[in-house]
Amino acid sequence: MNGFEYSRFGWDDPVYNLQNAEEIFRAKSLLNNEALANKLVLDAGCGNGRYSYSAAKSGAQLFSLELGDGVDSTAENLAEFPNVQVVQGDIFHAPFADNTFDVIYSIGVLMHTGDARKATQRLASKLKIGGSMSVHVYGQGNPFYEYIDRTIRKRTIHLSAPELRRFTQSAYRMRQWLDRLGVADQASRLVRLDSHPISIFSWYGAPIATHHTYDEVKGWLAESHMTIVDTANQPPRLSAIRRKSDRQSIGPLS
Ligand SMILES: C[S@@+](CC[C@H](N)C(=O)[O-])C[C@H]1O[C@@H](n2cnc3c(N)ncnc32)[C@H](O)[C@@H]1O
Repeated sequence: MNGFEYSRFGWDDPVYNLQNAEEIFRAKSLLNNEALANKLVLDAGCGNGRYSYSAAKSGAQLFSLELGDGVDSTAENLAEFPNVQVVQGDIFHAPFADNTFDVIYSIGVLMHTGDARKATQRLASKLKIGGSMSVHVYGQGNPFYEYIDRTIRKRTIHLSAPELRRFTQSAYRMRQWLDRLGVADQASRLVRLDSHPISIFSWYGAPIATHHTYDEVKGWLAESHMTIVDTANQPPRLSAIRRKSDRQSIGPLS
């Protein structure tokens, strides 16, 4: 692996691999085995399927929806699970009837759609009454963080792939240097420099990446008649909302 190999990111990567994928999935989705086993579940924007893998292991009857052309390698990654179907499609036009799923989760996706609120509403319409929904999006940082992020991304989203790789390598070296100095956490209040090159590459290369507050996410879920039943919060990067009413939903920010 050259540090940029996304198709198996989460499987055999030295940092993100099957040994820790499940723990990360639980922290981001707030879904446990009981919430998933034998349930009809949608992973909305599954990417390479790393979190579908964890849900599938829990015994979910899983549909993994992904817009990108990488779905073929996603299907290969999940081929061992007869309980998973990988579907290429768009959250805004998801090929499922309303009120279909017991559980819907979406990790690190809605802020890339251009309209996270509408995407949440579209997903909520696919949820059965009494079902649960988990939404994990990027949290809004302090004004300096947001300014710096906007300024860097204004340039990086226009870089070619080789240029973005070079940018990522430099940013990753800086992150390692901050780690050695023991100041990476403090620096992360001003600039996002993940501890993995793939995360840096996708953060600075994603053409659309909106950041959201708890209140916004709560508002989106309230509009879809959901009630919070649980939250987790590690600002500015991770927080979570869990709701329960006639529908339940869970919504982390990262
Ligand atoms: C940052 S990746 C996260 C993937 C996966 N959930 C994970 O955490 O590994 C975001 C994914 O959302 C997908 N995506 C973006 N907009 C989408 C849409 N409208 N419908 C379905 N998938 C979408 C992208 O193609 C990409 O694979």
